[in-house]
Amino acid sequence: MDLNEAARATLRANDRGGYTVPNGQVYPFQWNWDSAFVALGFDTFDRDRAWAEVETLFEAQWSDGFVPHIIFWVDDAGYFPGPDVWAAGENGIRTSGITQPPVAATVVRMLWDSAVAAGQADTFRPRAEKLFDQLLAWHRWFATHRDPEGRGVVVAVHPWETGRDNSPEWDAPGEPIDVSGVGAYTRRDTGHLDAKMRPTKLEYDRYLALVQYGRAQGWEHHKIAVGSPFKVADVGMSMMMMRANRDLAALGTLLGKDVSAVDRLIERAEDGIDWLWDADRQSWCSRDLISGKSSGFVTSASFLSFYAGIRDATKDAATLAHFDRIGKVVKYMVPSLDPEDPGFQMVRYWRGPVWAVVNTMIGIGLAEAGHDVRAKRVKGDTRTMMNQTGFFEAYSPVDGTGSGGDDFSWTAAMWLAWAGQD
Ligand code: GLC
Repeated sequence: MDLNEAARATLRANDRGGYTVPNGQVYPFQWNWDSAFVALGFDTFDRDRAWAEVETLFEAQWSDGFVPHIIFWVDDAGYFPGPDVWAAGENGIRTSGITQPPVAATVVRMLWDSAVAAGQADTFRPRAEKLFDQLLAWHRWFATHRDPEGRGVVVAVHPWETGRDNSPEWDAPGEPIDVSGVGAYTRRDTGHLDAKMRPTKLEYDRYLALVQYGRAQGWEHHKIAVGSPFKVADVGMSMMMMRANRDLAALGTLLGKDVSAVDRLIERAEDGIDWLWDADRQSWCSRDLISGKSSGFVTSASFLSFYAGIRDATKDAATLAHFDRIGKVVKYMVPSLDPEDPGFQMVRYWRGPVWAVVNTMIGIGLAEAGHDVRAKRVKGDTRTMMNQTGFFEAYSPVDGTGSGGDDFSWTAAMWLAWAGQD
C-alpha cells in the first residue's frame, strides 16, 4: 500500500462518525487540536468530512466561548482521567474543563481556501460563516480568561492546555503545586505504553491536582484565571494564537464580516509578544506569570515565531542560529527540546521526540519567511521518518524510531496535507 492510501486508511479506521480519535487505543475520545489537524488530512479526499470534524468539535463549545480539550462523546474506560473525574461540560455534553492550542481558525481558513479553489464557495459559505462566529467567540474567551494581565499572550492553566504536556517548561512553575491531596489513582497510559516514554508520576500528580482545583472552582473560568496555582505564558500557544487571529481576520474579511475585534487582538499580541523573548537565551521562551521568570528552554515551540508572522531581523537571526546549531546535533528536525539541554531524552514524550504537527507549523512558517533550505529540511526529515516507520505519535530525533503507536490520526493527516506532498 502506498503511504497516501495508508494515511487515508488510518483516518478512516480512527473515524468514529463526525469526529476522529487521535489513535485507536491510548486516546479514545475527541481531542481539540488533533481534530483541527485531522480535518486538513480529510480535506485532501473528503471535503464534507473535513468540515464535519471541526463542526463536531464546536458542538461542544460552552456558552462563554470556551472549547474543551477533550470531548467524551462515548464511554471508554481506557483513558484516565475520564468524564467523571473532570465533571465538566454543558448541554449534557461531557468534556474536560481546559482547552488546547487554538489552531482551528488557521485550519478553517485553509479549508475555506480549498473549497473556493474547488469552485465550492457557495456550498460551504454558510458553514464557514457559522464557524467564523464560533471561532471568534473562542478567541475572545482566550483574550478574557487566558490572558489575565492583557499582555497579548496565552496563559495556560494546565500543562495539558499547551498540547506539549510534559515539556520541561512546566517543571519549575509546577513545583509549588500541592499534590498531597491527590489520592490514589490508576493511570491508563502506562498500561498501553512503555513508562519511559511517558510523563513521570510526579508530573501526573500535578496534572491531577490541577484538575481537582478546576473542578473545585466549578470550572468557572474567571475564577481559575485569577487563582490557578499554575499560570504559564506558553510561547507555543501564544505564537499559534497570533497566527490564528491573522487567519481569522483574513477569513472574516473574505466572508464580509466585521473583523475589527480580531484586529485589536492582533495588535495586542504584536505589542506584547516581546515579553516572551529571553534576551539571555536569545530565544523565544515560555514565561511563568506567577514568578515572572522565563523558562530559558529552547523547544520546538521557540521556532513558531515565523509561523506567527513575526518578522524581526535580530530575533529571527538568533532563532535561526539555534535552529542551525540543533540541526547539526540531531539527524531529524525538530526535536521538542534542545538536544544540548541536560534534560533532553530522545524517547520521553515532549522532552526530545519530534511531532509531525509541530514540524508542519514550523515548516510552513519558515517557508513563508523565505528560509527555504531550512523549510525543506523540516519537511524532508518528517517525510523520511514517516516513510521509515509509519504514522507514529512521535519520532526520535536521533534515529527516527517511532513511539506511542503507529496509527496516529494527526500524523497521517500531516502526511496527506503536507509532509508527503511537494
Ligand atoms: C497528548 C499530547 C497532546 C495531544 C494528545 C492526543 O496528550 O501531548 O498534544 O493532543 O496526546 O494526541
